[in-house]
Amino acid sequence: MSQLKSLKDLSKIKGKKVFLRVDFNVPISGGRVSDATKIEKLEENIKDLLNQNCKIILGSHLGRPQKKGKSGLSLQPVKKMTEKILNEEINFLEINNEAKKIISESDNKIFMLENLRFDPGEEANSKDYAKLLASFANVYINEAFSCSHRAHASIDAITQFLVSYAGSSIINEVEALEKVFLNSKKPVACLIGGSKISTKIDLIINLMPKMDFMIIGGAMANNFFKYEGFNVGKSLLEENIEQTIKQIYQEAKRNNCELILPVDVVCSKKFDQPGENKKLNEIEDNDIILDIGIEGTGKIDEILKQSKTVLWNGPFGLFEYDDFANGTNDISRSIARYTKNNNLISVAGGGDTFAAIKKSNQQNNFTYISTAGGAFLEWLEGKMLPGLKVLEK
Ligand code: 3PG
Repeated sequence: MSQLKSLKDLSKIKGKKVFLRVDFNVPISGGRVSDATKIEKLEENIKDLLNQNCKIILGSHLGRPQKKGKSGLSLQPVKKMTEKILNEEINFLEINNEAKKIISESDNKIFMLENLRFDPGEEANSKDYAKLLASFANVYINEAFSCSHRAHASIDAITQFLVSYAGSSIINEVEALEKVFLNSKKPVACLIGGSKISTKIDLIINLMPKMDFMIIGGAMANNFFKYEGFNVGKSLLEENIEQTIKQIYQEAKRNNCELILPVDVVCSKKFDQPGENKKLNEIEDNDIILDIGIEGTGKIDEILKQSKTVLWNGPFGLFEYDDFANGTNDISRSIARYTKNNNLISVAGGGDTFAAIKKSNQQNNFTYISTAGGAFLEWLEGKMLPGLKVLEK
């Protein structure tokens, strides 16, 4: 069980200046925030701090300016959206010594710093940069689980200079993951989809001992079909993946975990042409597999019905296209239904998975959905996240 330093009693920080590390790394389109979920999720936490008469200094990164340049990566649009969500005015600050004075002297309650990654010191986990950030506040709270796999100055080094706590969103996230991973009610099913098995192999191997069912879908399943001798036509495949597939079969056997793959698929010749449901032995040379088939989703529904816990990461088809979203939508609806009717504990995570669940309009019907991508996977792979390590008791 995690032993993170949490702030159970918010009144302990009454009137303090709080550096709140948030993940407002949100999509921006045409100079506006196009999906504000990450900001909305923290609305209450920010308001709770305001109610304690705290001054809040919001710190976030946006994109990867050190690699791609600063253009289009200012947090100004995020500030505007946050003001709208909170219905509060926010003072936007460049990160320099002047900011410290402004924060101390201003009557404003909420401040937002410019993109933390505009300074190379952030990603370098620079102590000097962390010290500058720390000088703005007297308490540090990390509310960015999704950034906690990064040993960056605002996540890691800053905790050397301020009394530091894990915010309630991190505590909730870790508790939800522990429900699946450490204290799971059996049977436990895991659905892993997406396009590349090579990016999920550590995850699958680490999860297998805890799972009763490992259900693999999405384009990564194509590699298993090929390994089993089926023609996969022009479908997405990975090179030199046979050893990985073999290892997954061996680990499943060793751990007594039932490995389940789609028994049928939806194929098309082109992404913009409707698909056809086919059995695996019916796939033709010019077919592209773009979704799981009807029989396959039915089997998954049966497994979900008997499961007590489910973990889902990765879509089961090219859900961005309506013609190939049916499998993923059906899975999302099944999980939501059993969560409601059978008390299934359902935890999902990853950027694409979250988008797919939203598309099926089931985002309020899971036990927990993580918006974290890399951090969610690394936690489940059993890796220690640097941002959590520094917050341990
Ligand atoms: C995310 O969106 O998953 C987090 O903001 C982390 O972003 P990063 O991968 O750029 O560190």
